[in-house]
Amino acid sequence: MSIRIAGTGGALPEKKVTNDMIAQMVDTSDEWIRERTGIGSRFVSTGETVASLVARACSLALERAGREAEEVELLLVATCTPEDALPCMACQVQEKIGAKEAVAFDLNAACAGFLFALHTAWAYVESGIYQNALVAGGEVLSKMIDWQDRGTCVLFGDGAGAVLVEKCADGGILSFVQHSDGNRGAVLSCGARPIANPYFTGASQERYVRMDGREVFSFALRQVPAAIEEALAKARLAVEDVDVFVLHQANRRIIEGISRRLGADLEKFPMNLEQVGNTSSAAIPLLLDMLYREGRIRSGQVVVLSGFGAGLTYGACVMRIN
Ligand code: ACO
Repeated sequence: MSIRIAGTGGALPEKKVTNDMIAQMVDTSDEWIRERTGIGSRFVSTGETVASLVARACSLALERAGREAEEVELLLVATCTPEDALPCMACQVQEKIGAKEAVAFDLNAACAGFLFALHTAWAYVESGIYQNALVAGGEVLSKMIDWQDRGTCVLFGDGAGAVLVEKCADGGILSFVQHSDGNRGAVLSCGARPIANPYFTGASQERYVRMDGREVFSFALRQVPAAIEEALAKARLAVEDVDVFVLHQANRRIIEGISRRLGADLEKFPMNLEQVGNTSSAAIPLLLDMLYREGRIRSGQVVVLSGFGAGLTYGACVMRIN
C-alpha cells in the first residue's frame, strides 16, 4: 500500500519583486544575485497570508484531482511562517476550502517541511487510518526577513503549493528517509514570540532570519546526495534509474553541486528559483505543480524529491508516478 499524487496546485502573491527592485533598497545587484544564487525575482505578499495562499493551492489541487473538499480526510500544512499561533494554518485552510470532514494540523520542519508532511501523510494512509490527504507547504517569509540585510533579503519569496495524495496499490511512494540535526540549529534561525512575562529578565530574541550561508551551502552539498542515495537504496534503485529530481529550490549552485556529486545530468534537475526564489516549504510542491502542468512529470517515471532546511532537517523520497 502506498500513496500517489492525484492533483497539484500552486499559488503566488501578485507582487513580483525583481533583483533590480531590491538593489534600490540595499547594496546589491542583479548580477551578484543571479551569479551567486540563480534567483531573478520573487513574489512578495501585499496582504496574502499563509492560509489564503495555501487555500488557493489546495483548491487547485482538488480541482485537478477531480475531488471535492468534503472528501479530504487529512489536511497537513507545512509552514514556518504562520501569521497566527492559534488557530493553526491548516484549520484556517480547512474553513476556507470547506474540507469539513478533514483532520487538520500544521507541521514545521522549515524548508524540509513539505517532505516531512508528505511522509506523515504516507504513514497515516499506509497504516489504514486515512485514505487520502491534502499536503501543502506555504510561506510568507517576507515578514521574517530583515529587508536591510542583503545576505538574506535577496534569497526568499512567498508562495504555496499543495498535492492531493490518495491510497494506491502499486507504485506511488517507494521509499522515504528523513533526518534532523538539532545540534546545528544556530546555522539558520529566526525568533518568534520571545518569553515575555513579569518574571522574565532575559535578553530579547532575534526577530529576523539569520543564516550562516556557507554552512548551509556545505550542509546541503554533504547531506542531500547522501539522503538521496539512502532513499534510492531503500527502493532498490540507482541514480541512473531516476528521471526527475525535484529538489528544494534554495540556490542554483547548490543544485548544480548535488547533481555533480550524484553523477546525474543537470537536465534532470528542473528549477523554478529564477522566477520565485526560495519559498522554503512551498518550494517542492510549487515546482511539482509546474512540472505536472507542463507534462514534464509523467506516468511510469521515477521521481526523487529532496528537501533540506533549518533545524537542521533534510530528507528524500522516491516515487514511481502512476
Ligand atoms: N549582494 C552583494 N554582496 C553581498 C550580498 C548581496 N546580496 N550578500 C552578501 N554579499 C557580500 C558579503 O557582504 C561579502 O562581502 P565582503 O567579502 O566584503 O565581506 C561577500 O558578498 C561574500 O559573502 P558570502 O556570504 O561569503 O557570499 P557567498 O559567496 O557565500 O554567497 C550565499 C552567499 C549566496 C548566501 C551563499 O552562501 C549561499 O548560497 N548559501 C546557501 C544558503 C542558502 O541558499 N540559503 C537559503 C536558505 S536555507 C534553505 O533554504 C535550506
